[in-house]
Amino acid sequence: MQLVLLIVFLLSWGLLGVTKPTLRSSYILHEKRSHTPSGWDVLRRRDASSVLPLRFGLKQSSINKLEDMLYDISHPDSSNYGNHWAPAQVTQTFAPSQETVEIVRGWLEGAGFGFDRVKLAPSRNWLEVNTTVEEAEHLLKTEYHVYGHKSGKIHTACSEYHLPIYVSPHVDLVNPSIHFDAILGKRGSGATPAKTVGLPGVGIFPKTTGNISSILSRLENCDVMITPICLRALYGLNYAPLSTKKNTFGIVEYTPQAYLQSDLDLFFANFSSSLVGKSPEFVSIDGGVIQTMQTGFNFNGESNLDLQYAMNLVNPQEVVLYQVGDLPQGASFNNFLDALDGSYCTFEGGDDPSQDEIFPDNLPNGYNGAANCGTTKPANVISTSYGYNEADLSPSYTLRQCAEYAKLGLMGVTVLFSSGDNGVAGNGALCLNVDGSCSQTEDGMIFNPGFPSTCPFVTSVGATQINLGNKYTDPEVACEQVIFSGGGFSNYFGIPDYQKKAVGKYLQDHKPSHFADIWNSTGVSRGYPDISANGANYVVAVDGRFARVFGTSASTPVVGSILAMVNDARLTIGKKPIGFINPAIYSDAFSSAFHDITSGNNQGCNTPGFSAVPGWDPVTGLGTPSFAKLLEKWLTLP
Ligand SMILES: *[C@@H]1O[C@H](CO)[C@@H](O)[C@H](O)[C@H]1NC(C)=O
Ligand SMILES: *[C@@H]1O[C@H](CO)[C@@H](O)[C@H](O)[C@H]1NC(C)=O
Ligand SMILES: *[C@@H]1O[C@H](CO)[C@@H](O)[C@H](O)[C@H]1NC(C)=O
Ligand SMILES: *[C@@H]1O[C@H](CO)[C@@H](O)[C@H](O)[C@H]1NC(C)=O
Repeated sequence: MQLVLLIVFLLSWGLLGVTKPTLRSSYILHEKRSHTPSGWDVLRRRDASSVLPLRFGLKQSSINKLEDMLYDISHPDSSNYGNHWAPAQVTQTFAPSQETVEIVRGWLEGAGFGFDRVKLAPSRNWLEVNTTVEEAEHLLKTEYHVYGHKSGKIHTACSEYHLPIYVSPHVDLVNPSIHFDAILGKRGSGATPAKTVGLPGVGIFPKTTGNISSILSRLENCDVMITPICLRALYGLNYAPLSTKKNTFGIVEYTPQAYLQSDLDLFFANFSSSLVGKSPEFVSIDGGVIQTMQTGFNFNGESNLDLQYAMNLVNPQEVVLYQVGDLPQGASFNNFLDALDGSYCTFEGGDDPSQDEIFPDNLPNGYNGAANCGTTKPANVISTSYGYNEADLSPSYTLRQCAEYAKLGLMGVTVLFSSGDNGVAGNGALCLNVDGSCSQTEDGMIFNPGFPSTCPFVTSVGATQINLGNKYTDPEVACEQVIFSGGGFSNYFGIPDYQKKAVGKYLQDHKPSHFADIWNSTGVSRGYPDISANGANYVVAVDGRFARVFGTSASTPVVGSILAMVNDARLTIGKKPIGFINPAIYSDAFSSAFHDITSGNNQGCNTPGFSAVPGWDPVTGLGTPSFAKLLEKWLTLP
């Protein structure tokens, strides 16, 4: 898939120090889209004299050393373990170099765009120039067309573009070019207006089998109803936090998803009475509001689930709620990252105006304040139960965002994402089509990995269950009730060092033989999830009643709570938070710290999917956590 694109990216990520040739340079294909996304048609050539605001996303300095830098402070064998970076060091290290700025600027000047027309963004991440379509087509050796969507939306794009060979390594991407708005409203709803990414939760919503009349909250009943005591028992979470003033734990929610205080209180009354009346610490980002205009499982289910369990499991540690996005637009992951890192902020940083929300907006009930840029100090652990399909987004967009997660890791932040609820299929149970394009349909045949789970610099969390009739002391299996644990192999991201051994062993001993050509079986791509936790039969208060809830959405805040308590113990004895955990959890020293899950599948795309097997697998990762053992391992690290 998108082979050309990937080769170009690999090249541009790998090459550095290219010198400026004296002769007039020849061009190289920089990005190419293999097909027009479904629903869009070419209407006409874009008028040659109309103006395009061209933006060149510049290659960041040292970005090819990012992985090594991250391992240096997060690998348990490194003498620098735990020496996290200050935010200013991160900004300085990765800002595009003077050489990069000069090379791209020099090329534009040579092409007739004088100093006064080319603007460098204050963050140094982007060069901007207003060109006519004719000029842009000449500059990028391309043709711009106007595309129409059946919803009526219009978009300008090209299908490929070129850059001089000596310029290409200094540019990540050019806007507008091949990129399309990624998500066009919910699947099958032709009437929904085309919308920009906005709602990363379009696919991963927890699911429910409906209301329950009476709660079974004894340990014997964990196979039919999960309550906090079941989770404490399953993972040995028997710990009272001591450093609640120093520690932080954050849950991210995207508007219009919202919690209801009355539901939190109903839950707390039954499961942790000391919390009745307590709210999470509210941090509003880009107009984030706890809306009450729309209620019901689809609007309250996710937030209620995340907060009820997280607040209970870490009590009395406060939980920070990052509520992101205003009512009319919502927001994207990049909008949240902007709030954490000012140098990434808006299209001067990492955003893509065609895929991320723009603030302030002038919409009715919209947020008309300034976009939140670097206004929020990230919590030590940040749990997000939303996600995209990798194919919803272009490789260049995911690469820039993934690098940003690595930067959070450098600063000592643990970033968790749920792996998805449709097994090897993507959100919406969509699979990729065989034509090698990134188009996704219900009858697609090819496994459809999820993002950011496929980013090697986040920790991806899958789902398990207790089989009916089993006790909490029996081994759990991969979740196969209502949802299937998202898992598989990336088509965009190569395999990171930390999981080469574990994934290599899986591919050597357990590679499914009957369907090798419908997933990335090359052995060189990132496998996910990394770990898992129970994701079935959660008792959650929603709209005044208790309902049974399923999803990796549930697993993720539980893992987050466990890791937050490990941080508490480390902070209590003067150590640093655990930060990016993957190099540690895949290391030999941690091999006994997980309950290996060896049974169950993650079906999808009309296949049984992968199977959980001894060792790492693309269904449940390394397994479910043992708090006591994780604590012991992490307390021995510096
Ligand atoms: C491009 O044009 C827009 C609209 O006229 C203007 O706001 C912007 O500053 C211009 N950008 C540059 C780099 O000249
Ligand atoms: C629970 O019951 C109420 C009242 O009958 C109903 O409105 C609501 O949709 C039900 N919730 C779920 C999650 O099924
Ligand atoms: C939850 O707690 C309330 C108050 O303590 C109690 O009346 C109710 O029966 C409990 N709900 C369930 C479903 O057990
Ligand atoms: C498989 O993943 C690798 C690493 O990300 C990538 O280079 C390759 O293009 C992918 N193959 C397909 C068929 O997508």
